[in-house]
Amino acid sequence: MADIISVASITKWFGDRAVLKDVSIDLPRGKCAGVLGINGAGKTTLIKILLNLDGFDGGSFTIDGHEFVANRRVGKLPARVASQVGYVSQQAAFDEEMTAWENLMFYGRLFHVARRELNERIGSTLSLVGLLHAGEMQVSKLSGGMRRRLAIARALVAEPRILILDEPTSNLDPISRNQIWDLVGVLKAERGISILLSTNDMAEAQRLCDMVYLLKDGACVVHGNPAALVSSLHARIVELHYSRAGMDHLDEIAAGIAQLSGHLTYRVDGFMHARLFVEASSNAEAALFQHAKDHGSWFETVSVRDPTLEDVFLKIAGVSFERQETLTFKSVTTMFERYLGGK
Ligand SMILES: Nc1ncnc2c1ncn2[C@@H]1O[C@H](COP(=O)(O)OP(=O)(O)O)[C@@H](O)[C@H]1O
Ligand SMILES: [Mg+2]
Repeated sequence: MADIISVASITKWFGDRAVLKDVSIDLPRGKCAGVLGINGAGKTTLIKILLNLDGFDGGSFTIDGHEFVANRRVGKLPARVASQVGYVSQQAAFDEEMTAWENLMFYGRLFHVARRELNERIGSTLSLVGLLHAGEMQVSKLSGGMRRRLAIARALVAEPRILILDEPTSNLDPISRNQIWDLVGVLKAERGISILLSTNDMAEAQRLCDMVYLLKDGACVVHGNPAALVSSLHARIVELHYSRAGMDHLDEIAAGIAQLSGHLTYRVDGFMHARLFVEASSNAEAALFQHAKDHGSWFETVSVRDPTLEDVFLKIAGVSFERQETLTFKSVTTMFERYLGGK
Protein backbone atom coordinates (compact mmCIF):
# COMPACT_ATOMS: atom_id res chain seq x y z
CA MET A 1 0.00 0.00 0.00
CA ALA A 2 1.16 3.51 -0.75
CA ASP A 3 2.73 5.54 2.05
CA ILE A 4 0.19 7.45 4.11
CA ILE A 5 2.32 10.59 3.80
CA SER A 6 4.72 11.09 0.94
CA VAL A 7 6.62 14.32 0.47
CA ALA A 8 8.32 14.77 -2.89
CA SER A 9 11.01 17.41 -3.33
CA ILE A 10 9.32 20.21 -1.42
CA THR A 11 10.97 23.61 -1.63
CA LYS A 12 9.87 26.63 0.37
CA TRP A 13 11.16 30.18 0.24
CA PHE A 14 10.76 32.94 2.81
CA GLY A 15 11.69 36.07 0.85
CA ASP A 16 15.02 35.34 -0.80
CA ARG A 17 15.86 32.50 1.58
CA ALA A 18 15.11 28.86 0.90
CA VAL A 19 14.07 27.32 4.22
CA LEU A 20 13.18 23.93 2.73
CA LYS A 21 15.28 22.63 -0.12
CA ASP A 22 14.10 19.66 -2.12
CA VAL A 23 12.89 17.74 0.93
CA SER A 24 11.46 14.25 0.42
CA ILE A 25 9.98 12.16 3.21
CA ASP A 26 7.97 8.96 3.29
CA LEU A 27 5.77 7.77 6.12
CA PRO A 28 4.54 4.21 5.61
CA ARG A 29 1.24 3.25 7.24
CA GLY A 30 1.52 2.36 10.90
CA LYS A 31 5.10 3.60 11.18
CA CYS A 32 6.75 6.54 12.90
CA ALA A 33 8.95 8.90 10.91
CA GLY A 34 11.09 11.51 12.63
CA VAL A 35 12.08 14.87 11.21
CA LEU A 36 15.24 15.83 13.05
CA GLY A 37 17.13 19.05 13.12
CA ILE A 38 18.38 21.78 15.38
CA ASN A 39 16.35 24.95 15.95
CA GLY A 40 15.69 26.74 12.69
CA ALA A 41 16.31 23.65 10.53
CA GLY A 42 12.82 23.88 9.01
CA LYS A 43 10.87 21.23 10.95
CA THR A 44 7.86 23.35 11.90
CA THR A 45 7.76 24.93 8.44
CA LEU A 46 7.45 21.46 6.91
CA ILE A 47 4.71 20.50 9.35
CA LYS A 48 2.76 23.67 8.62
CA ILE A 49 2.94 22.87 4.93
CA LEU A 50 1.63 19.35 5.52
CA LEU A 51 -1.23 20.81 7.56
CA ASN A 52 -2.06 23.20 4.74
CA LEU A 53 -1.38 26.17 6.96
CA ASP A 54 1.35 27.43 4.67
CA GLY A 55 2.11 27.17 0.98
CA PHE A 56 5.26 25.99 -0.75
CA ASP A 57 7.12 26.79 -3.93
CA GLY A 58 8.18 23.49 -5.43
CA GLY A 59 7.42 19.79 -5.25
CA SER A 60 4.30 18.09 -3.95
CA PHE A 61 3.03 15.82 -1.21
CA THR A 62 0.26 13.32 -0.67
CA ILE A 63 -1.67 12.54 2.50
CA ASP A 64 -3.63 9.32 2.31
CA GLY A 65 -3.66 9.48 -1.46
CA HIS A 66 -4.78 13.12 -1.64
CA GLU A 67 -2.25 15.20 -3.58
CA PHE A 68 -1.17 18.76 -2.84
CA VAL A 69 0.99 20.59 -5.34
CA ALA A 70 3.18 23.69 -5.06
CA ASN A 71 1.67 27.16 -5.36
CA ARG A 72 -1.87 25.99 -4.68
CA ARG A 73 -4.02 28.27 -2.62
CA VAL A 74 -3.53 27.52 1.03
CA GLY A 75 -6.70 27.06 2.92
CA LYS A 76 -8.95 24.47 4.37
CA LEU A 77 -7.85 20.89 4.22
CA PRO A 78 -10.47 18.80 2.47
CA ALA A 79 -12.68 17.37 5.24
CA ARG A 80 -11.72 13.82 4.31
CA VAL A 81 -8.07 14.63 4.95
CA ALA A 82 -8.60 16.94 7.94
CA SER A 83 -10.33 14.26 10.00
CA GLN A 84 -7.44 11.88 9.28
CA VAL A 85 -4.77 14.17 10.68
CA GLY A 86 -4.32 14.94 14.36
CA TYR A 87 -1.82 17.66 15.17
CA VAL A 88 -0.06 18.59 18.39
CA SER A 89 1.86 21.84 18.17
CA GLN A 90 4.88 22.83 20.21
CA GLN A 91 2.79 25.18 22.32
CA ALA A 92 -0.70 23.77 22.60
CA ALA A 93 -3.19 26.38 23.75
CA PHE A 94 -6.27 25.51 25.77
CA ASP A 95 -9.05 27.40 27.45
CA GLU A 96 -7.31 27.63 30.81
CA GLU A 97 -10.50 28.23 32.79
CA MET A 98 -12.28 25.20 31.45
CA THR A 99 -11.64 21.68 32.65
CA ALA A 100 -9.66 19.15 30.65
CA TRP A 101 -12.92 17.38 29.83
CA GLU A 102 -14.63 20.58 28.67
CA ASN A 103 -11.72 21.43 26.40
CA LEU A 104 -12.01 18.06 24.70
CA MET A 105 -15.78 18.40 24.52
CA PHE A 106 -15.48 21.73 22.73
CA TYR A 107 -12.94 20.33 20.28
CA GLY A 108 -14.98 17.19 19.61
CA ARG A 109 -17.96 19.33 18.69
CA LEU A 110 -15.83 21.21 16.18
CA PHE A 111 -15.28 17.85 14.51
CA HIS A 112 -19.00 17.07 14.70
CA VAL A 113 -18.59 14.05 16.90
CA ALA A 114 -22.11 13.03 18.00
CA ARG A 115 -22.76 14.11 21.57
CA ARG A 116 -23.49 10.69 23.02
CA GLU A 117 -20.49 9.19 21.35
CA LEU A 118 -18.37 12.16 22.38
CA ASN A 119 -18.70 11.55 26.13
CA GLU A 120 -17.61 7.99 25.72
CA ARG A 121 -14.78 8.94 23.42
CA ILE A 122 -13.45 11.63 25.74
CA GLY A 123 -13.50 9.17 28.62
CA SER A 124 -11.58 6.52 26.73
CA THR A 125 -9.13 9.04 25.30
CA LEU A 126 -8.40 10.60 28.69
CA SER A 127 -7.94 7.12 30.05
CA LEU A 128 -5.54 6.24 27.22
CA VAL A 129 -3.32 9.25 27.97
CA GLY A 130 -3.51 8.60 31.72
CA LEU A 131 -5.61 11.66 32.56
CA LEU A 132 -9.00 10.18 33.43
CA HIS A 133 -8.50 11.33 37.02
CA ALA A 134 -7.82 14.87 35.81
CA GLY A 135 -10.88 15.31 33.62
CA GLU A 136 -12.50 17.70 36.09
CA MET A 137 -9.35 19.72 36.69
CA GLN A 138 -8.98 23.20 35.26
CA VAL A 139 -6.35 23.18 32.54
CA SER A 140 -4.47 25.99 34.31
CA LYS A 141 -3.80 23.55 37.17
CA LEU A 142 -2.20 20.85 35.03
CA SER A 143 1.53 20.19 35.00
CA GLY A 144 3.60 20.55 31.82
CA GLY A 145 3.56 16.82 31.14
CA MET A 146 -0.19 16.55 31.77
CA ARG A 147 -0.87 19.45 29.39
CA ARG A 148 1.17 17.76 26.71
CA ARG A 149 -0.79 14.54 27.16
CA LEU A 150 -4.04 16.51 27.10
CA ALA A 151 -2.92 18.06 23.81
CA ILE A 152 -2.38 14.57 22.41
CA ALA A 153 -5.79 13.50 23.75
CA ARG A 154 -7.37 16.47 22.00
CA ALA A 155 -5.74 15.49 18.72
CA LEU A 156 -7.11 11.96 19.19
CA VAL A 157 -10.73 12.94 19.79
CA ALA A 158 -11.51 12.97 16.07
CA GLU A 159 -9.91 9.50 15.80
CA PRO A 160 -7.27 10.41 13.23
CA ARG A 161 -5.16 7.80 11.46
CA ILE A 162 -2.19 10.15 11.29
CA LEU A 163 -0.69 12.07 14.17
CA ILE A 164 1.76 14.92 13.63
CA LEU A 165 3.70 15.87 16.74
CA ASP A 166 5.95 18.94 16.74
CA GLU A 167 8.66 18.37 19.36
CA PRO A 168 6.33 16.40 21.65
CA THR A 169 8.67 16.30 24.65
CA SER A 170 10.55 19.59 24.50
CA ASN A 171 10.95 21.17 27.95
CA LEU A 172 9.53 18.17 29.79
CA ASP A 173 11.11 16.46 32.78
CA PRO A 174 12.45 12.92 32.21
CA ILE A 175 9.44 11.18 33.78
CA SER A 176 6.91 13.12 31.67
CA ARG A 177 9.08 12.53 28.63
CA ASN A 178 8.99 8.78 29.21
CA GLN A 179 5.22 8.86 29.65
CA ILE A 180 4.85 10.54 26.26
CA TRP A 181 7.21 8.00 24.69
CA ASP A 182 5.14 5.13 26.09
CA LEU A 183 1.99 6.77 24.83
CA VAL A 184 3.36 7.27 21.33
CA GLY A 185 4.44 3.62 21.32
CA VAL A 186 0.91 2.52 22.27
CA LEU A 187 -0.72 4.74 19.65
CA LYS A 188 1.47 3.19 16.98
CA ALA A 189 1.44 -0.42 18.10
CA GLU A 190 -2.10 -0.79 19.42
CA ARG A 191 -4.05 1.77 17.44
CA GLY A 192 -2.10 1.54 14.21
CA ILE A 193 -1.75 5.32 14.01
CA SER A 194 0.93 6.58 11.62
CA ILE A 195 3.09 9.18 13.32
CA LEU A 196 5.23 11.99 11.99
CA LEU A 197 7.16 13.78 14.69
CA SER A 198 9.80 16.44 14.81
CA THR A 199 12.46 16.36 17.45
CA ASN A 200 15.96 17.35 18.36
CA ASP A 201 16.16 14.66 21.01
CA MET A 202 18.31 11.78 19.81
CA ALA A 203 17.11 9.35 22.49
CA GLU A 204 13.55 10.08 21.40
CA ALA A 205 14.35 9.49 17.74
CA GLN A 206 16.10 6.23 18.51
CA ARG A 207 13.31 5.00 20.73
CA LEU A 208 10.29 5.97 18.63
CA CYS A 209 11.21 6.33 14.98
CA ASP A 210 11.30 3.64 12.30
CA MET A 211 13.02 6.13 10.04
CA VAL A 212 14.60 9.51 10.56
CA TYR A 213 15.22 12.43 8.23
CA LEU A 214 17.85 14.90 9.30
CA LEU A 215 17.24 18.46 8.14
CA LYS A 216 20.14 20.87 8.08
CA ASP A 217 19.44 24.41 6.91
CA GLY A 218 16.30 23.15 5.21
CA ALA A 219 17.91 20.27 3.31
CA CYS A 220 17.61 16.60 4.18
CA VAL A 221 21.23 15.51 4.59
CA VAL A 222 20.88 12.03 6.08
CA HIS A 223 17.99 9.63 6.30
CA GLY A 224 17.44 6.04 7.23
CA ASN A 225 16.50 3.61 9.94
CA PRO A 226 18.14 4.74 13.21
CA ALA A 227 19.61 1.34 14.11
CA ALA A 228 20.95 0.85 10.58
CA LEU A 229 22.51 4.31 10.58
CA VAL A 230 24.20 3.67 13.90
CA SER A 231 25.57 0.31 12.81
CA SER A 232 26.95 1.97 9.69
CA LEU A 233 29.61 3.36 12.00
CA HIS A 234 31.73 0.27 12.29
CA ALA A 235 33.94 1.35 15.15
CA ARG A 236 33.46 2.37 18.73
CA ILE A 237 33.80 5.98 19.78
CA VAL A 238 36.63 7.09 22.01
CA GLU A 239 35.68 10.35 23.65
CA LEU A 240 38.61 12.46 24.77
CA HIS A 241 37.68 15.39 26.95
CA TYR A 242 40.65 17.60 26.74
CA SER A 243 41.35 20.24 29.31
CA ARG A 244 42.03 23.91 28.88
CA ALA A 245 45.72 23.11 28.84
CA GLY A 246 45.04 20.58 26.11
CA MET A 247 43.33 23.19 23.97
CA ASP A 248 46.71 24.83 23.45
CA HIS A 249 48.07 21.58 22.04
CA LEU A 250 45.46 20.66 19.50
CA ASP A 251 47.94 20.17 16.69
CA GLU A 252 50.03 17.82 18.76
CA ILE A 253 46.98 15.94 19.95
CA ALA A 254 45.75 15.51 16.39
CA ALA A 255 49.18 14.40 15.22
CA GLY A 256 49.39 11.89 18.06
CA ILE A 257 45.98 10.48 17.22
CA ALA A 258 46.80 10.23 13.54
CA GLN A 259 49.85 8.15 14.41
CA LEU A 260 47.75 5.85 16.53
CA SER A 261 45.57 5.21 13.50
CA GLY A 262 42.33 6.12 15.17
CA HIS A 263 40.06 7.82 12.68
CA LEU A 264 39.30 11.33 13.88
CA THR A 265 35.72 12.11 13.03
CA TYR A 266 34.90 15.34 14.74
CA ARG A 267 35.63 17.75 17.51
CA VAL A 268 33.16 19.59 19.71
CA ASP A 269 34.55 22.70 21.27
CA GLY A 270 33.36 24.43 24.37
CA PHE A 271 34.69 27.56 25.97
CA MET A 272 36.51 25.84 28.79
CA HIS A 273 36.64 22.28 27.62
CA ALA A 274 36.55 20.52 24.34
CA ARG A 275 35.79 17.04 23.20
CA LEU A 276 37.32 14.96 20.52
CA PHE A 277 35.46 11.96 19.15
CA VAL A 278 37.52 9.28 17.52
CA GLU A 279 36.16 6.28 15.68
CA ALA A 280 38.61 3.63 16.65
CA SER A 281 39.33 -0.04 16.10
CA SER A 282 39.99 -2.01 19.27
CA ASN A 283 43.75 -1.77 18.71
CA ALA A 284 43.51 1.99 18.37
CA GLU A 285 41.34 2.19 21.51
CA ALA A 286 44.10 0.87 23.72
CA ALA A 287 46.65 3.11 22.04
CA LEU A 288 44.44 6.17 22.52
CA PHE A 289 44.08 5.41 26.22
CA GLN A 290 47.84 5.16 26.48
CA HIS A 291 48.24 8.41 24.54
CA ALA A 292 45.88 10.19 26.95
CA LYS A 293 47.73 8.71 29.91
CA ASP A 294 51.08 9.87 28.54
CA HIS A 295 49.71 13.41 28.17
CA GLY A 296 47.67 13.44 31.34
CA SER A 297 47.58 17.22 31.70
CA TRP A 298 45.94 17.66 28.28
CA PHE A 299 43.01 15.38 28.99
CA GLU A 300 40.38 15.36 31.71
CA THR A 301 38.70 12.08 30.94
CA VAL A 302 38.85 9.43 28.30
CA SER A 303 36.01 7.03 27.71
CA VAL A 304 34.97 4.55 25.11
CA ARG A 305 31.41 3.77 24.10
CA ASP A 306 29.23 2.46 21.29
CA PRO A 307 28.23 4.96 18.61
CA THR A 308 24.87 6.74 18.80
CA LEU A 309 22.61 8.41 16.27
CA GLU A 310 24.14 11.74 17.16
CA ASP A 311 27.58 10.41 16.22
CA VAL A 312 26.19 9.54 12.79
CA PHE A 313 24.86 13.04 12.34
CA LEU A 314 28.00 14.67 13.64
CA LYS A 315 30.12 12.64 11.31
CA ILE A 316 28.00 12.98 8.19
CA ALA A 317 26.42 16.38 8.62
CA GLY A 318 28.37 18.10 11.36
CA VAL A 319 25.20 18.61 13.38
CA SER A 320 25.54 18.57 17.15
CA PHE A 321 22.23 18.27 18.97
CA GLU A 322 23.65 18.27 22.41
CA ARG A 323 24.70 21.87 22.24
CA GLN A 324 22.09 22.86 19.71
CA GLU A 325 24.46 24.10 17.11
CA THR A 326 25.77 23.30 13.72
CA LEU A 327 29.47 22.67 13.39
CA THR A 328 30.96 23.35 10.05
CA PHE A 329 32.39 19.92 9.61
CA LYS A 330 34.75 21.28 7.02
CA SER A 331 36.32 23.78 9.35
CA VAL A 332 36.68 21.11 12.00
CA THR A 333 38.36 18.69 9.67
CA THR A 334 40.55 21.07 7.68
CA MET A 335 42.44 21.77 10.82
CA PHE A 336 43.39 18.13 11.10
CA GLU A 337 43.64 17.27 7.46
CA ARG A 338 47.35 17.61 7.13
CA TYR A 339 47.81 15.19 10.00
CA LEU A 340 45.20 12.71 9.01
CA GLY A 341 45.87 12.66 5.29
CA GLY A 342 43.93 9.94 3.57
CA LYS A 343 42.93 8.14 6.74
N1 LIG B 1 6.95 33.27 8.62
C1 LIG B 1 8.28 33.25 8.46
N2 LIG B 1 8.91 34.24 7.76
C2 LIG B 1 10.25 34.21 7.56
N3 LIG B 1 11.06 33.25 8.02
C3 LIG B 1 10.51 32.24 8.71
C4 LIG B 1 9.09 32.19 8.97
N4 LIG B 1 8.83 31.05 9.68
C5 LIG B 1 10.02 30.44 9.86
N5 LIG B 1 11.02 31.14 9.28
C6 LIG B 1 12.44 30.77 9.24
O1 LIG B 1 12.54 29.50 8.63
C7 LIG B 1 13.56 28.73 9.26
C8 LIG B 1 12.99 27.43 9.75
O2 LIG B 1 12.13 27.67 10.84
P1 LIG B 1 11.32 26.52 11.56
O3 LIG B 1 10.63 25.70 10.54
O4 LIG B 1 10.48 27.14 12.61
O5 LIG B 1 12.50 25.66 12.22
P2 LIG B 1 12.44 24.53 13.35
O6 LIG B 1 11.01 24.18 13.59
O7 LIG B 1 13.23 23.39 12.78
O8 LIG B 1 13.10 25.10 14.56
C9 LIG B 1 14.11 29.58 10.38
O9 LIG B 1 15.28 30.20 9.95
C10 LIG B 1 13.03 30.60 10.63
O10 LIG B 1 13.57 31.79 11.11
MG1 LIG C 1 9.91 24.19 15.34
